[in-house]
Amino acid sequence: MKLTVIGTGYLGATHAAAMAELGHDVLGIDTDEMKVKRLNCGDVPFFEPGLPELLQRNIDSGRLRFTTSYAEVGAFGDVHFVCVGTPQKKGEYAADLSYVDAAVASLLSEVRAGAVVVGKSTVPAGTAARLAESIEAVGAELVWNPEFLREGFAVEDTLRPDRIVMGVRSERAAGILREVYAPILAADTPCIVTDFATAELVKVAANSFLATKISFINAMAEVCEVTGADVTQLAAALSHDDRIGGKFLHAGLGFGGGCLPKDIRAFMARAGELGVDQALSFLKEIDAINMRRRARMVDLARELCDGSLAGVRVGVLGAAFKPNSDDIRDSPALDVAVAVQRAGAAVRVYDPQAMTNAKDSYATLAYAPSAVDAAMDADVVLHLTEWAEFRQMHPSVLSEVVRARRIVDGRNALDRELWRSEGWTYRALGRH
Ligand code: UDX
Repeated sequence: MKLTVIGTGYLGATHAAAMAELGHDVLGIDTDEMKVKRLNCGDVPFFEPGLPELLQRNIDSGRLRFTTSYAEVGAFGDVHFVCVGTPQKKGEYAADLSYVDAAVASLLSEVRAGAVVVGKSTVPAGTAARLAESIEAVGAELVWNPEFLREGFAVEDTLRPDRIVMGVRSERAAGILREVYAPILAADTPCIVTDFATAELVKVAANSFLATKISFINAMAEVCEVTGADVTQLAAALSHDDRIGGKFLHAGLGFGGGCLPKDIRAFMARAGELGVDQALSFLKEIDAINMRRRARMVDLARELCDGSLAGVRVGVLGAAFKPNSDDIRDSPALDVAVAVQRAGAAVRVYDPQAMTNAKDSYATLAYAPSAVDAAMDADVVLHLTEWAEFRQMHPSVLSEVVRARRIVDGRNALDRELWRSEGWTYRALGRH
């Protein structure tokens, strides 16, 4: 089939390459000329394991290319995926839909009658019904098909998703999308065909549930800190109950990134508009628990340094919002680094992949070319993003370069006994 993909960020670039991998002819479009140029050369403008190979393979096969022209998109095919971002509005909780609206408007001036527009962006409930009016007015149809991919596993999640959800108004549109995803559906992937509003809600409900699970265990961590209990053992014991499960029960610095924080906020904002704000008021607490962890991390560092961070040297390991990503959007690690610096410390940050993004957006922080350099002469080391490089690092690598052997493990991912046996004072969130 001939498909187009509008927007080439984490979602769109991965979707475009994955659809070509399934055997379709794919044209991706982005307004950013530089990005298009790089993608056409097989160069992924962000870090996503497996994507460079997938992109190159499909460009080489001739099934994938990128453009900046909507006229080309309209003429290319009749199934158009909308994969543009919906960031948080500045100064508000609500989602900024201007990119979605602009993409659909540009597309509609070029689409042919009978075309199917497939919305994949995360949007507030009611957006699909609103967009459908203008889409149906030009004789095209809309399907809402949310995307659940995780950064770091984007290729795997796109080619082998847990489920496919499609919100439709016609059997024809559902049939066309089933055809697009035929190889995935042939692998017995569950497919839920529903209405627009349900499809939109599945995505924000899923992200709210995941955020709730993380904040639940982080709330337990707060209680563990005052009772002397160990949150990692608590989570392990809980996880043996099948009904609870162990995933997303990892206590630490909490969630960040381009999705969970802004999605729960946009969901609350939308619930307010719909008059059901009470139904989601618990998400305010989920957000608050999450933000408190960052403050607690700074307090732990301060405690370790005899009550003041003024004039203290701090080595920060991690800048990305999670490992295997160079994404620093709402990164807890950088938030903590900034707060520690504001408290008077001299901070040096190292991350295996997110240095360029961090330097661009957090120019006031100082950066080091390696973990050892970040920890050089440090009075305390903060482990804030659990990259394998840090988890596997033997404490002796840092022991001789630091001024004092003190580490705060913000992700409960280091071997506590090992660090202590090497003479380090080890502190973590939710355990002693
Ligand atoms: C998330 C959803 O998982 C995905 O389905 C959706 O499509 C987009 O949002 P992503 O933002 O890539 O994906 O990251 P995810 O792996 O969900 O992690 C989110 C944050 O939660 C990270 O900052 C991570 O460090 C944190 N986290 C995750 C925890 O603190 N504890 C956990 O147990 C799990």
